[in-house]
This record gives sequence, C-alpha cells and structure tokens, in this order.
Amino acid sequence: MVNIILSGAPGSGKGTQSDLIVREYGLQHISTGDVLRAEIATGSELGKQIDALISKGNLVPDDIMYGVIENYISNLPADCKGTIFDGYPRTVAQAMSLTELLKKYQMEAIMIDLLVDEQLLIQRLIERGKISGRADDNLNTIRHRIAVYHNQTEPITHYYLHQGNYFAVNGNHPMEDVFIQVKRIIDREGHK
Ligand code: AP5
Repeated sequence: MVNIILSGAPGSGKGTQSDLIVREYGLQHISTGDVLRAEIATGSELGKQIDALISKGNLVPDDIMYGVIENYISNLPADCKGTIFDGYPRTVAQAMSLTELLKKYQMEAIMIDLLVDEQLLIQRLIERGKISGRADDNLNTIRHRIAVYHNQTEPITHYYLHQGNYFAVNGNHPMEDVFIQVKRIIDREGHK
C-alpha cells in the first residue's frame, strides 16, 4: 500500500497528476478542494461560509478539514491499494493531525511536492480560468492563493523533510514528463 500526500502551490498540477496516478495504480483519491466545492454546490449554510473563504483564496478552518479527512479515511474500502491526499494537509496543524489519524488506521504516507515557478503557476491558472468557472481563478485571487500557500502551506515541507518522507518533483515540465518523475518515486517507495 502506498499513500501519497500530493502537495504544491495552486496550479502546480496536483489534480492533473492525481488523475494519472489513479489511472496507473488504481489508488483512491480525495481532493479537498473538490469536496469543499461540492459542499458549496449544495447551497447549505456551511457551503456559504466555505464559499466566502474559497472565493477570496483563503483557507477553510482546520476544524472543518479534520472532519472531512477523518470521514474519508474511515470509509476507505477494505481492499484499498492506497490513497492520494490532493491538497491536504495545507497547514502544519493539519499535517500533525494527519500523522496521528494515519497511525490510528495503521497507515503511513509519503509527500510528493510539485515545484513550479510562480510565473508558470499564474499562466496556467489564468488559462484555466477562461473555462473553469472557478471564482478563485482570477489574477488577484491567484496571487493571494500563492501568498497563502507560501505563508501557511509551504512550512509543511519542513515537517515531512524532518520525518524523512519528503520527495520533490520538478513540475515545470509537460504533464507526462512530470508523471515519469512521480512514478519513479511511487515505484521505489511503494516497494519498501
Ligand atoms: P484546490 O481545489 O486544491 O485548489 P488549488 O490548491 O488552488 O489547486 P488547483 O486546483 O488550482 O491546482 P492544481 O495544483 O490541482 O493544478 P491542476 O492539476 O488543476 O483548493 C481550492 C481552495 O479550497 C483553497 O484555496 C482553499 O480555500 C480550500 N482548501 C482546499 N483544501 C484545503 C485544506 N486542506 N485546508 C483548508 N482549505 C482548503 O492544474 C492547473 C492547470 O494547469 C490545469 O489547467 C492543468 O491542465 C494545467 N497543468 C497541470 N499540469 C500541467 C503541466 N505539467 N504542464 C502544463 N499544464 C499543466
């Protein structure tokens, strides 16, 4: 079993690489961004609160995210070959909580970090914004999302580096080339 924390700045290719990993390895996949957007789509009170945060490019409070992840892990199928956490954790507190939660279910995870130059991130998201309909795919909010990433999410790299399960990938290349690097890590670490 291999569990993967797929991390990286907005537009680094987390969703794109998750799809490729699922296709190749048959892993389960959770994108916390997708879960939150699905809650917004229900029109619930919680969805309205989440919408106010996401549309400005701010993170949703840790307390809400803990419930989402615990619910997901506790419902993984018995024959699960592993899972991808796409966009989770995004704070050091989330990372610490995930370690504890994984321990409870006798699981471990490696972190794959997609490193992409800022100009390229902006270019990709502006391009996607022309068709995505996402409220956060506009230049001001993209810049804010990247700043939030540097301030609140990037520190988790030190947490995983310290634990010895951090793997960086150069995400500036075409998606197939990035996937070759990702595969190399999964094949090596998944056999340990
Ligand atoms: P989320 O939905 O996770 O958004 P994000 O992190 O901003 O990431 P994106 O989906 O924009 O990009 P991606 O890295 O998945 O790249 P993608 O593959 O799509 O989160 C949204 C919001 O939800 C957050 O801002 C926050 O408010 C909230 N949230 C989520 N998780 C949370 C948490 N844990 N705690 C608190 N709040 C949370 O690619 C982007 C574009 O680039 C696509 O068009 C794609 O085709 C293209 N592309 C991808 N790879 C390549 C490549 N190699 N070459 C060329 N183009 C490429």
